[in-house]
Amino acid sequence: MKLKNIEETRKVGEFLGTIVKPYDCIALIGDLGSGKTTFTQAMAKGMGIDEVVSSATFTLINIYEGEIPLYHFDAYRLETPEAFYEIGGEEYIDAPGVSVIEWADLVMDALPEDLLILEWSRDSQEERSLTIEGTGSRSKELEKELKEFENHRL
Ligand SMILES: Nc1ncnc2c1ncn2[C@@H]1O[C@H](COP(=O)(O)OP(=O)(O)OP(=O)(O)O)[C@@H](O)[C@H]1O
Ligand SMILES: [Mg+2]
Repeated sequence: MKLKNIEETRKVGEFLGTIVKPYDCIALIGDLGSGKTTFTQAMAKGMGIDEVVSSATFTLINIYEGEIPLYHFDAYRLETPEAFYEIGGEEYIDAPGVSVIEWADLVMDALPEDLLILEWSRDSQEERSLTIEGTGSRSKELEKELKEFENHRL
């Protein structure tokens, strides 16, 4: 899907935030500045979380309490699946919240089989391409809903 500007990124993120359920796991892959944190902030808004969502690059994980909690990971400095286990990543993944992992490609082996993978590429200053792939039954549902959202609402 093409995202023409940051507003479109936010719309898709906010929509995803309205349809996620406990245990959903979302992998964000893309270079520095591609929009992963921006997208996560919009998701949090869609989930009804009022708290300001900041970058998790230095904290590794930030937890936001909402009707459904949001576990926001940034694996940039973790680098390996082992490091993800060491910070207790698995316990969050198994808990009834929504997990979002930036730089998920670095820790892919530690993530569940049913995963919504969102991969970003930067086409210009403001334009992004986003590929969406669900790897299991629940994440394929989310994939379908995001693609319908693109067709009808974006
Ligand atoms: N269409 C767009 N979608 C998302 N961000 C955009 C878009 N156009 C411009 N931007 C800008 O790109 C930057 C994205 O930064 P963001 O922190 O979300 O990236 P990131 O992928 O989380 O980077 P990092 O890997 O460093 O964590 C912001 O400065 C934002 O304003
Ligand atoms: Mg980020």
